[in-house]
Amino acid sequence: MEKETKTGNREQFGSKLGFILAAAGSAVGLGNIWKFPYLAGSNGGGAFVLVYLLCVVVIGFSLMLMEMALGRNTQLSTMGAYRKLDKRFTFIGVIGVVAAFLIVGYYPVVGGWSVAYFFKTLIGELSTSNPETLGGIFGALVSGTWAPIFWTVVYMALNVIIVIGGIQKGIEKASKVMMPALFIVLLILAVRSVTLPGAGEGLKFLFAPDWSKLSGQVMLAAMGQAFFSLSLGMGCIITYASYLGKKENLVSNSLNIPAIDTLVAILSGVVIIPAAVSFGFEVTQGPGLVFVTVPAIFATMGPVIGRIFGLMFFLLVALAALTSSISLLEVVVAFFIDEIGFNRKKAVATSSTIGIIMCIAASLSMGAWSNITLFGMNIFDFFDYVASYICLPLGGMFVSIFVGWFWGKKNAYDEVTNEGTIKFALFDVWFFLCKWVIPIGILFVFLSGVGII
Ligand code: PHE
Repeated sequence: MEKETKTGNREQFGSKLGFILAAAGSAVGLGNIWKFPYLAGSNGGGAFVLVYLLCVVVIGFSLMLMEMALGRNTQLSTMGAYRKLDKRFTFIGVIGVVAAFLIVGYYPVVGGWSVAYFFKTLIGELSTSNPETLGGIFGALVSGTWAPIFWTVVYMALNVIIVIGGIQKGIEKASKVMMPALFIVLLILAVRSVTLPGAGEGLKFLFAPDWSKLSGQVMLAAMGQAFFSLSLGMGCIITYASYLGKKENLVSNSLNIPAIDTLVAILSGVVIIPAAVSFGFEVTQGPGLVFVTVPAIFATMGPVIGRIFGLMFFLLVALAALTSSISLLEVVVAFFIDEIGFNRKKAVATSSTIGIIMCIAASLSMGAWSNITLFGMNIFDFFDYVASYICLPLGGMFVSIFVGWFWGKKNAYDEVTNEGTIKFALFDVWFFLCKWVIPIGILFVFLSGVGII
């Protein structure tokens, strides 16, 4: 993925697995492990989870296929792809780049927290299941000034090393081991969590929908989270698929990745929510939920085993986050290379400097700068809100309008079925979703989520 050209003569993924790992690596990240459980917790549980699943099935799979088709067809990253196909739609690329900037402006803060928690586990600071103590440790970290900035910089430096050094190949190889390892650790934790006393209540909260909790805001939260978690609506998948060979089966790829991603999200929910309920943590507490609940689970596993698992967990979370944030950074970097004409080094330096400045603001907004608010939100929440609930859904809506109404059925068919050589029995259903159901559905949820209808 090092080579950038505008002519379409680009390097391709060495193997089908390379692409799946990179795309799944982009999808599976903090969105699944950190964000999904706390959003489910603060948005009423089951109703949120069901709307989330509905969004993945109806919008997620289809949009994944659309973005893959656009990327592979044009062999260009997001802005260039639209410019080549239909200049009037270049603005979709702009929305994506804005979203990428915003997410790069806070995601590394949380990445930094996970690195910090790895070290806190190492020195034994977290060996307790006492809610007050754990809450206090998390609160002190996020509201501090220098410590969270330090960890953010460490995390961002790791990103820069990977993106600038072009060692994505190494990362892809590492993911082959890491992703299954993450999955196994989550499975073990899930078993531990659901066997804690009182865990049944948590499972009920997570899976038995209480429809009275459903509102426009909850639907928008679930839909925005589906976009965020699947890395959709901002051109990440377009960019990755631009490196994909003409023989690859896009249909099966677009099914596998959302399936893996959703499995990891649900599994994380099953780890966090029942344990939180069992230990008496507030499930509505927001971004700290994973960071206080998981150490408590480890504490019940005994000092040695608990600590070993704790180290594995936070290491894997940090690595899963890395494979996502390098894909985010890549969108910003590609923008500077393709649109502004920077070379890769300069593009990475500029993107990460802007990212760090935004992250410092986002981090301070939970401490020293908490009195600064934008539309009633602190800076961290504001970046997240604009990216996840405005840019990504609207980006996705325009992608489907573009594919359904402008790129058209014939082009879509040829690309998705490799010129008719791959069977895709549900093509008509998919195209109908792209043309009608998805744009209207997104618009409806968006308008009701922001309170217009
Ligand atoms: N999907 C990633 C996660 O769940 C975050 C991400 C969003 C990455 C958008 C790329 C694009 O952590």
